[in-house]
Amino acid sequence: MRLSERPLIAQAEIDECVKRLARDIAARHQDGRGLVLVVVLKGATIFAADLMRCLDVHPLRIEYIRAKSYDGTHSMGEVELIVLPDLSVAGQRVLVVEDILDTGRTTTAILSALENANPASLELCTLLDKPSRRVVPVDAQYVGFSIDDHFVVGYGLDYREAYRSLPEIYVLEPSNG
Ligand code: IMP
Ligand code: MG
Repeated sequence: MRLSERPLIAQAEIDECVKRLARDIAARHQDGRGLVLVVVLKGATIFAADLMRCLDVHPLRIEYIRAKSYDGTHSMGEVELIVLPDLSVAGQRVLVVEDILDTGRTTTAILSALENANPASLELCTLLDKPSRRVVPVDAQYVGFSIDDHFVVGYGLDYREAYRSLPEIYVLEPSNG
């Protein structure tokens, strides 16, 4: 596997997109009730760090949830969730921050786990969406970029834990292709 020669999404486009998403989220949360950001580890960490610094919503609480469903470039179908014991969201407004929506299985598992904890509201923000890959329908209120069916890396997204620290988003292509 190798990186595409040019980024699929450049840094300036990501910056612009993060600001737009932050504006859209803030516009719906201006009544002082605040928001709990539930950041999905590990892929969404860089996106969430940029997003929260632009987000004019107060008070803003940051929590984390860990999800694992991929082995290399293949979705395994089964989703493993690790929830910290102090993740209490009852009566709170919650926004899940995801790196990418693919089959929708991971996000569905996360949303239903959080729904069971009785939040006041539950929304989803994803940086990337691959709608053509969807197996389980998922409703995302905030979507950064809709992309074709590529395996992408960078800006938090990995291939076997590599490439997360790239500042731009690249397509991972087969070396012989
Ligand atoms: P889903 O459960 O199939 O929707 O998969 C969602 C998770 O799979 C994401 O949170 C990512 O961690 C991972 N994933 C899906 N597509 C990609 C990709 O193109 N690059 C890197 N990770 C991906
Ligand atoms: Mg992920």
